[in-house]
Amino acid sequence: MPYAKIIGSGGYLPPRVVSNDELAADLATRQIETSDAWITERTGIRQRHIADPGVTSSQLAVKAAQQALEDAGISAEELDLIIVATSTPDFIFPSTACLVQAQLGNKGAAAFDVQAVCSGFVYALTTADSFIRAGRARHALVIGAEVFSSILDWNDRGTCVLFGDGAGAVVLSASEEPGILEAELNADGSLANILHVAGSVVDGQVTGDPFLRMDGQAVFKQAVTALAASAQSVCDKAGVSLEDIDWMVPHQANVRIINFLGRKLKLSDDKVIVTVDQHANTSAASVPLALDAARRDGRIRQGDLVLMQGVGGGFTWGSVLARM
Ligand SMILES: CC(C)(COP(=O)(O)OP(=O)(O)OC[C@H]1O[C@@H](n2cnc3c(N)ncnc32)[C@H](O)[C@@H]1OP(=O)(O)O)[C@@H](O)C(=O)NCCC(=O)NCCS
Repeated sequence: MPYAKIIGSGGYLPPRVVSNDELAADLATRQIETSDAWITERTGIRQRHIADPGVTSSQLAVKAAQQALEDAGISAEELDLIIVATSTPDFIFPSTACLVQAQLGNKGAAAFDVQAVCSGFVYALTTADSFIRAGRARHALVIGAEVFSSILDWNDRGTCVLFGDGAGAVVLSASEEPGILEAELNADGSLANILHVAGSVVDGQVTGDPFLRMDGQAVFKQAVTALAASAQSVCDKAGVSLEDIDWMVPHQANVRIINFLGRKLKLSDDKVIVTVDQHANTSAASVPLALDAARRDGRIRQGDLVLMQGVGGGFTWGSVLARM
């Protein structure tokens, strides 16, 4: 049975950078108080990239995908599977993956979206790994892409300061060499209401609430507990110990969650990739963006053992352990 190996990665962030100070000044015009000090201290976030009006997830995804394909040295025509993880699709349908496929110039590959919010990338990566290991695909493109700014209530300081827009992508190929070693996905739908966008389109009208709502403290506690257990479990299944991990690439939601998790798992800070200060939480894009940044700056190298983790709405979480 072949392994699925990550052979390329890419990332794209919209050019407009909004610092905490700029965001605080904007909120102040609507008598909403926040500050760079509050946001930095509680979250580690210093800035986020925000897409211009009209820019869609598929547009960000295509740019990240092109970079990943170039890095992998394969052409779009060679892909036989395209999965986009997103909670902010361009349309109800067709899927964002089909839109990306058309823009890349591929015809015939299976293409579909995965909706697991901030766990979306690890869900999509695990799905692609299963296709490749089963012999149903040879070259897969897995993308996390979001325009989360479009579902934020910019009058809710408890959420709007936390998120940003972007896309990250990897190319996976069938390989005899070890690649993805183990993965584990979980969900607990009874916790749906701690992080949700409970709106829908019915008869041409948005019904319910179209904005992201969150119980921040419940999400914080759930995230740390779930991710610690998931990390241990995936390592046990793969027969490796947590000490063997060269790099952890956690979901980039909040530096306090990341630090807490690192301490719980006894991983030193210099083994943990952190980009949340630069990008804020880009939901499904956060893990591939962080992975790509660390591959490009030379920290993550060929042969390294990497633990990727996602957590988010649903409530969903999961881990992927990969030999690079
Ligand atoms: C959201 C989060 C940063 C809030 O931090 P917290 O320490 O739990 O803060 P609380 O929600 O208890 O709020 C504390 C106070 O700060 C205020 N506050 C909330 N957002 C604020 C902001 N942007 N600026 C200033 N004050 C703010 C609250 O209104 C509250 O004020 P009060 O005490 O007068 O009622 C934190 O809960 C968190 O990071 N949770 C996880 C969120 C996450 O990662 N979600 C995505 C997962 S995929």
